[in-house]
Amino acid sequence: MSTSLSRGTRFRVDVKGLRAVVTGASSGIGAELARQLAAAGADVILVARRKDRLEALAAELRSAHGGAAEVLALDLGLPGAGKALWDATEGAGKPIDILINNAGFGSHGAFLDLPLERTLEQLQLNLVTLTESCHHFGHSMKARGRGHILNVASIGAWLSTPNYATYTAGKAYVRNFSEALAFELRPMGVVVSCLCPGPTDTEFVDVAGHAMKSWQKKFFMDAGSCARIGLEALFAERPNVIAGASNKAMMFTMRFLPRRTVTWISARMMGS
Ligand SMILES: NC(=O)c1ccc[n+]([C@@H]2O[C@H](COP(=O)([O-])OP(=O)(O)OC[C@H]3O[C@@H](n4cnc5c(N)ncnc54)[C@H](OP(=O)(O)O)[C@@H]3O)[C@@H](O)[C@H]2O)c1
Repeated sequence: MSTSLSRGTRFRVDVKGLRAVVTGASSGIGAELARQLAAAGADVILVARRKDRLEALAAELRSAHGGAAEVLALDLGLPGAGKALWDATEGAGKPIDILINNAGFGSHGAFLDLPLERTLEQLQLNLVTLTESCHHFGHSMKARGRGHILNVASIGAWLSTPNYATYTAGKAYVRNFSEALAFELRPMGVVVSCLCPGPTDTEFVDVAGHAMKSWQKKFFMDAGSCARIGLEALFAERPNVIAGASNKAMMFTMRFLPRRTVTWISARMMGS
């Protein structure tokens, strides 16, 4: 069981009684984000496709913390999913104070070898649905003059990674988009932040079809620590955070290297 389940979790913003939507809550970082928000007193709406997983987590959170925990089974990889998410929550009379756009996946392999259909589904989920959700929920939050949005990108946002070409390019979009949106929406009372995890111990690599070597797994961070860093950054109004000191140091160093070298290192670290 995660340490994040301890009662009385606190953030800089008191989230007690606030309502949060967490996408990709059936696994990994999303499940931990939901646990930590619920532990701090927020009501949560858990979104993903695997309803059984969401129901199990909702039951766990209700019994551990007593707040409301609802389930919304939705395929966010379909066109119009961002609007469908808004319709089923905000549009159904449940104002959303905190939106966490965490659902996402990558595919490991050479661009030309990966099925184009799967690549386009990835871009739809990781970029288009995230953008659409920010638009719809952003309008509602702007009208209320308050709200928090956390978008989950990756340290891949700083890298061009062979064998994760569209994934890391997409995460660069999420990072740049989130930083610009943070600037635009802050005067309207809406806080936007972007969490950039490094390699994290979740189902991500299995879904990506990436048979990682044991030395690569030594760099994994646990999902609870990653989620905590993201929520702390959001409530501290930081537009961007890289999860973990070693990931931060690595991304800082990359700034001073030629781009071609960055791609070469990235290929050695993550691409193989
Ligand atoms: N783990 C890492 O190393 C790492 C590193 C950098 C960034 N990230 C990012 O962190 C985020 C969370 O990933 P994770 O590591 O926690 O991976 P994960 O354990 O595989 O979780 C991914 C979540 O996304 C949901 N999801 C996937 N496709 C979906 C769809 N079409 N509709 C609705 N939900 C969908 C999954 O739920 P269902 O399958 O039940 O739908 C699951 O809850 C992603 O955006 C990922 O890109 C991860």
